[in-house]
Amino acid sequence: MNKHPNLTSPARILSAGADVAALRRTLPRQANLVAVASGKGGVGKTWFSITLSQALAGHGRRVLLLDGDLGLANVDVQLAMPPGHDLASVVAGKISLAEAITTYSAGVLSFDVLAGRSGSGALDTLSRNQIENLCNELIRSAVLYDHVIVDLAAGINSHMTPLFARIGKALIVVTDDPTSITDAYAMIKFLVTSYPEMDVRIIVNMAENRTQAEKTFNAVHRACGHFLQFTPTLAGHVLRDKHIPQAIRAQAPLLARYPQSEAAVLVQQIASSLLASGPRGLI
Ligand SMILES: Nc1ncnc2c1ncn2[C@@H]1O[C@H](COP(=O)(O)OP(=O)(O)OP(=O)(O)O)[C@@H](O)[C@H]1O
Ligand SMILES: [Mg+2]
Repeated sequence: MNKHPNLTSPARILSAGADVAALRRTLPRQANLVAVASGKGGVGKTWFSITLSQALAGHGRRVLLLDGDLGLANVDVQLAMPPGHDLASVVAGKISLAEAITTYSAGVLSFDVLAGRSGSGALDTLSRNQIENLCNELIRSAVLYDHVIVDLAAGINSHMTPLFARIGKALIVVTDDPTSITDAYAMIKFLVTSYPEMDVRIIVNMAENRTQAEKTFNAVHRACGHFLQFTPTLAGHVLRDKHIPQAIRAQAPLLARYPQSEAAVLVQQIASSLLASGPRGLI
């Protein structure tokens, strides 16, 4: 059962044709769009995006998780979502964007998902204009949510440029791996030079312990301070935890399957501190 049964599903509001323009006026500009990005692949963006979405839902927030990794989409795989309701079907003109948004429930927590479809190559067939229209439609949908978490592909994807330009906050996921650190630096450099308004923060993932997480963060922080005159803040860290691959194998979100695990507790702390940190955090 939903812990917050009175929340009206934004997916339902969209289908019913809500006055999106009116809703939009009531919300700050794109502050609710949060990208989860990385320089290097395989650092835990998708897993973290899902878990953060769930943790925010636990605070009674309306959350949309958008799979922005259309080439190798895997939010749907990690959550065992049925095919058909996804961005690829929207691009193919089979369904509307509102119809593609599905409410995912696990235990007491639920959030909406706009899935991609792995290997569809959906965006490759679109012109720049069409991509921009799609991004604009996504942004219109975003106003119905407290937070839109965008799980991005690793590195810089030109398809997502129109969306990037509207994103308020980027959480850059980095691990102890030296190439992950250098690629995170390159990603941050791209973001702060292209979008100086963006609030860029670091998530250290797969750390062996807190000290190692701090060392990893300090390496990124130092490089940014030295070469970019920009110092990102640490949004939090997550330890390496065997429950994560176990939950993924079971296609169940961590907070539902192993709510007491170290990683689950740490992501909940990250969600709470993002919510608590005011206008520069999540509002
Ligand atoms: N803190 C962690 N502890 C242990 N394993 C982890 C942790 N975080 C992620 N993993 C594992 O790392 C793998 C990659 O995770 P995930 O798919 O979320 O990464 P990604 O950054 O989205 O990858 P891609 O760049 O390919 O999209 C998964 O198998 C997951 O189980
Ligand atoms: Mg991923």
